[in-house]
Amino acid sequence: MNSKPAPVFLLVLAFALSAPAAEPAPGRYAAVSASPDGIGKVYAGREIARVMSFHGAEWLERPERAEEERPELLLSALELKPGMTVADIGAGTGYYSWRMAQRVGAGGTVYAVDIQPEMIRLLEQQMSRRRAANVKALLGTPTDPGLPPASVDLALMVEEQVVAGDAAAPALERIEERVGLGDLGDCAFVQEALPESVELKRATFKRLSERISADAIVASTSSTISPSHLAHAVAGPERFLVAHWLNPAHIIPLVEVVPGQQTSAKTVESTLRLLERLGKTPVRCADSPGFIGPRIQVLLMNEAVRLVEEGVATPEDVDRAFRAGMGFRYASVGIFEFIDWGGVDILYRASRYMSEALGDDRFKPARLVEQKMAYNELGPKTGRGFFDYAGDRRDTFETAKIRALLRQLKRDRESAP
Ligand SMILES: NC(=O)c1ccc[n+]([C@@H]2O[C@H](COP(=O)([O-])OP(=O)(O)OC[C@H]3O[C@@H](n4cnc5c(N)ncnc54)[C@H](O)[C@@H]3O)[C@@H](O)[C@H]2O)c1
Repeated sequence: MNSKPAPVFLLVLAFALSAPAAEPAPGRYAAVSASPDGIGKVYAGREIARVMSFHGAEWLERPERAEEERPELLLSALELKPGMTVADIGAGTGYYSWRMAQRVGAGGTVYAVDIQPEMIRLLEQQMSRRRAANVKALLGTPTDPGLPPASVDLALMVEEQVVAGDAAAPALERIEERVGLGDLGDCAFVQEALPESVELKRATFKRLSERISADAIVASTSSTISPSHLAHAVAGPERFLVAHWLNPAHIIPLVEVVPGQQTSAKTVESTLRLLERLGKTPVRCADSPGFIGPRIQVLLMNEAVRLVEEGVATPEDVDRAFRAGMGFRYASVGIFEFIDWGGVDILYRASRYMSEALGDDRFKPARLVEQKMAYNELGPKTGRGFFDYAGDRRDTFETAKIRALLRQLKRDRESAP
């Protein structure tokens, strides 16, 4: 699709008749046995169709519709503003698309989606007759509205109030699509996201170095490759590091910042500052394969697969257990905080038991865990574990963590479907 991605506010209008509807007011609908294309409900003398056929398109434009349906009530409830981009899913002949187009103005866009090619043709005729150049007709399918992909995520971000409605369109305006490495001379920060191949990344860095200014920072988003394996391909390796974003990168706050042996302190500081300004949570990490996240995650993921391989649980149950248990917990409590809270001795005993019971050294306690056992640094209960719990720090820590978990539980319950 050539159209520039734009924020889309998803609107499902009354035409989505196959979706389960709210119970009608008693007496307004009559039940009949469903005809092949109908849903078995009669309204105003007509059985409601599963999908409104294009044969009935004329009915959608009936003059009395404005009086019957009072579209202005819906349109004012939508609070559309000039410049917005909206989607009318199940647009039909564009009865609402056209009205929305007038509200978002020439600077806005209405994506009018329908699943019938004939309906799309009628809609385009209507829009050209009405000179509504800001309505873009899209042929979707029952499972895919065919909207520009980037715009749907942005629409969800607006809906979830992560991005303000009027900030969405300008954000996309700032993205320029380019092919090739030209025109990068003005860039102060270049974030590379090529496929995970050392050769490809090195070759590209060589060509890139000739096109960018000498003090531009070059960051690779590699999930595993040590920056020292890539740095020499950049002219001026002191301005190179890994900035590893996590997918989906526009949502997950963490970015791991990994300097190589030659990376300058200035490069690291500037990168950390930039990421913070972007609202991210940058975490520094020494140059070591897999950094923090991938190293933990590779073990975690393989262990989950082994559980399924051995028939211990199904993928669905592993996922359910992970989301309701570890995933829930670690959103509010760090791993080291939890080792301390539960007790280093618990981890030590669990590790020994499991390595023996499963006959696998992978589960043996880490050396530092054994050392903590020897020093009786077991967590809050002994005043020190990986963190210090002297004085009232134990109470403060435990109260803060309980509160964080309770708030998370509340959020989860409030947002449960
Ligand atoms: N997939 C993830 O979840 C994830 C998460 C964090 C980091 N990463 C890292 O991000 C990087 C990219 O991963 P991905 O999964 O997005 O890879 P990908 O292969 O899906 O996407 C890479 C993009 O680079 C483009 N491309 C390929 N060759 C190119 C070339 N010679 N010049 C310009 N563009 C080219 C491709 O068209 C594609 O759009 C890797 O280093 C990976 O380790 C991936």
